[in-house]
This record gives sequence, structure tokens and C-alpha cells, in this order.
Amino acid sequence: MTILDGKRVAAAIRTELKQQVAELQSQGLRQPCLAVVIVGHNTASETYVNNKMKACEEVGFRAIKIAFENSITEQQLLTQIALLNQDKDIDGFIVQLPLPEHINESKVIQAIDYHKDVDGLHPYNVGLTALGLPSIVSATPRGIRELLARYQIPTEGKRVVVIGRSNIVGKPMAMLLMQKPYLSLSQTASTQLGDATVTLCHSKTQNLRDICREADIIIVAVGQPCLLTADMVKPDATIIDVGINRIEDPHAPKGYRLVGDVDFQNVSQIVKYITPVPGGVGPMTIASLLQNTMQVYKSNL
Ligand code: GUN
Repeated sequence: MTILDGKRVAAAIRTELKQQVAELQSQGLRQPCLAVVIVGHNTASETYVNNKMKACEEVGFRAIKIAFENSITEQQLLTQIALLNQDKDIDGFIVQLPLPEHINESKVIQAIDYHKDVDGLHPYNVGLTALGLPSIVSATPRGIRELLARYQIPTEGKRVVVIGRSNIVGKPMAMLLMQKPYLSLSQTASTQLGDATVTLCHSKTQNLRDICREADIIIVAVGQPCLLTADMVKPDATIIDVGINRIEDPHAPKGYRLVGDVDFQNVSQIVKYITPVPGGVGPMTIASLLQNTMQVYKSNL
């Protein structure tokens, strides 16, 4: 069994980006700039946003954090988005999700200029991705594709099961993996992955176990600890765990620990490749957000 070390691969991507930023600066060009909008004090969101800020600083991007209290109105948030859309010094920005209930997430995402939508969540980017046209790809699927590519795990002709139908992971992941590679959005040969036979499963899927047992690659993005168990995987499968769940643990320093959606202890005994949690998909998502920001920056040159 090989651990797919997202932490290490993400660090390598950050090093590559850092070199690119140094080259840009040596040509007298400005740094790429990412802004992150966060509303309220969701602890997990605050951690993710701080990690995004740190990653930007490490590679030499300008990073702007714009934090609002929960009491912000939808209209005030939309006004802030309009300002970010117009700001020529900002290449891309994201609005960290989830948003408070009184704010319509879909309306907020649609207010983002799709050219600056480095989360790849705007319907226009989602549509371009679905058609296999150049777009900004949602960060988590882009990170997973990159991880598979760098470990040289082929997808051509493989049976891939995606569990979870979210707009942010499940749906775009399925679309990317089923594509003809020549239509792939990425410019680098290393990420020409596609041509898979994809099955997308969700909470109403029947016989999930039997479907998973046929899969060469399983991508789980549900948010449910131990959803994927050892009896659901075939030997030599590749397992990508997108879940980040906090479970209480009185022995852990913070009183909780992070686990994915996969019963790692038992599944890892059987399969060929598996991502850990933490240290798998999470760091790759942030690295891909930086790659998306660099992509937008270069398209503006
Ligand atoms: N919340 C959890 N993951 C993400 C992400 O990748 N982007 C945004 N905007 N919100 C999130």
C-alpha cells in the first residue's frame, strides 16, 4: 500500500509557484493577489482561511482577508463582491462557505465575476468545465486530478466511483474524470487525465457496497466518518478521501481529532493507494487554489 502524500505534493507545487513568482518579480511584474472573504466565526472555516493565507504568503502571493460578522446582510456582501470584481489589483477571490442561513449562497456565487472565480464555483465555469472548455476548475477536483497525475495513476478506461454529489467536489470531479483528455482544461501534460467510466453515487444510491467493489478508483466526499469500509473495496483499488470530520477524542490535545470518510485503518490494509486525513486532499485543495490564482494572473498579463 502506498500513501498518497498530499502534504508533500502540495509542498512541491508551492515550491514551483514560488519559483514562478520570483521570475515574475525579476521581470518587474507585480505579485499575484488572492482575496478571501469570510463571514462569521465557523471554527473550521477560520482554520481553512488562515491556511490559505499562509500558503499565499509562502509562495509570494499577496493575500487579502476580508472578514465580516454574521450580522452582515446579503446586500452588503454583494456590494463587497462588486468592489472585488472591479479591483484591478486582485486577480481572484473566494467567498468561504458555508455562509449564514440568511445569505443565499447561490446568489453570492453568481455575483462573482467568473474570470476571478478561483474556486471555480460560478455556473459559467462549471458549464465550461462540463463542456471540456478552458475554465477555472473547482480547487478540490483539480487537486485530486493533480495528485493522481503526480503518482502516475491512470484513469483511462478505469471504473471510478464518486460518492457525493456536491457542486464543490462530487459533480465537477465526475465531469473531469469522464472527459476526453484532449479536451482537458489543463495546459500541462501531467494532468491529462480522463477517459474513465464514472459512476456518481449519493445518499439514495442502492447497493453502494456492490458498486464500490467494482471500482478501480473511489473518491469519497460525503462528510461521514467511516462511510467507506473494508468490505466495500477491492484489492488494488485507489482510495481518495475528501472528508474532513472532527470526532471527539479526550486524549487529543484539542479534545478532537480529524478523520476522513474512509475507515482508514482497515481499508488501507487492502488497497493499493490511499490518501490520509489529514495530509491528503486538504493540502492539495489549497495548492490548487493557488494554481487557479496563478492561472488567472497569467491570463491577465
Ligand atoms: N468550504 C469548504 N471548502 C471550501 C472551498 O474549497 N471553497 C470555499 N469557498 N468554501 C469552502
